[in-house]
Amino acid sequence: MTAHIIDGLALSRKLRTQIATEAQQLTAQGRRPGLAVILVGDNPASQVYVRNKIKACEDTGIHSVLEKFDASLSETELLARIAALNADPRIHGILVQLPLPGHIDEQKVIEAISPAKDVDGFHVASAGALLTGLPGGFWPCTPHGCLQMLDDIGYELRGKHAVVVGRSNIVGKPMALMLLARSATVTICHSATPDLAHFTRDADVIVAAVGKRGLITRDMVKPGAVVIDVGMNRDDHGKLCGDVDFAGVSEVAGWITPVPGGVGPMTITMLLANTIESARRTTA
Ligand code: GUN
Repeated sequence: MTAHIIDGLALSRKLRTQIATEAQQLTAQGRRPGLAVILVGDNPASQVYVRNKIKACEDTGIHSVLEKFDASLSETELLARIAALNADPRIHGILVQLPLPGHIDEQKVIEAISPAKDVDGFHVASAGALLTGLPGGFWPCTPHGCLQMLDDIGYELRGKHAVVVGRSNIVGKPMALMLLARSATVTICHSATPDLAHFTRDADVIVAAVGKRGLITRDMVKPGAVVIDVGMNRDDHGKLCGDVDFAGVSEVAGWITPVPGGVGPMTITMLLANTIESARRTTA
């Protein structure tokens, strides 16, 4: 078997065309969607991510503001900037790029963002809404993008066994909740799981979100399974690669996402979608 590729780039292009139309409509109603991105320090990966997010806003007609600060910025100063953006009616989404320098309490910063502008979906109010199924929150962009890719191939999750590898607040935990909400039987595996292959071999869907190159190999995958690779790693030549051994696994899986060109572009697309949704929720 050779797996079908789930093309995150192509799906992103399609969705971003719709997002651009919605941005235009909201702008015509006097509520142009606006995203503020805060970057503290000079982490090279964060600089690339932030640049891509701002570019995606520009391409879709979303107003964007980039606030860059030196790594020496104090927590108090950062909280003051967030308070100002919380009160700014032109801004519907606030994103503080993580990781933050060690002297700043990340969770405190996340909780300082107004839940109404929490387009990353990291605030405890958004996490609670996802957990309970109540409306009003925002879903974290990476797992939401993964779910969109499953929907795009018309995959029916009800009754299927989904195995999520990784338990972060940003990907693993919210991914598991989204799959559960679709009536999948969900297993969460993590670094203390003694026999990972035992679980993945039984999976109809595998979401790998650990950050470990070559973690998922072909012998760990059931023939025909859907494999979603959230990993963003570098190989020995500095080339971007995921958590899944793509060459081997694509010989047994039914569907697979590539890295790059899979989950990555979808994460940014869902950020744009959340910003549109936030603008829509405001009364003009
Ligand atoms: N750092 C890595 N991924 C993310 C993300 O999705 N949002 C933010 N704010 N920071 C990140």
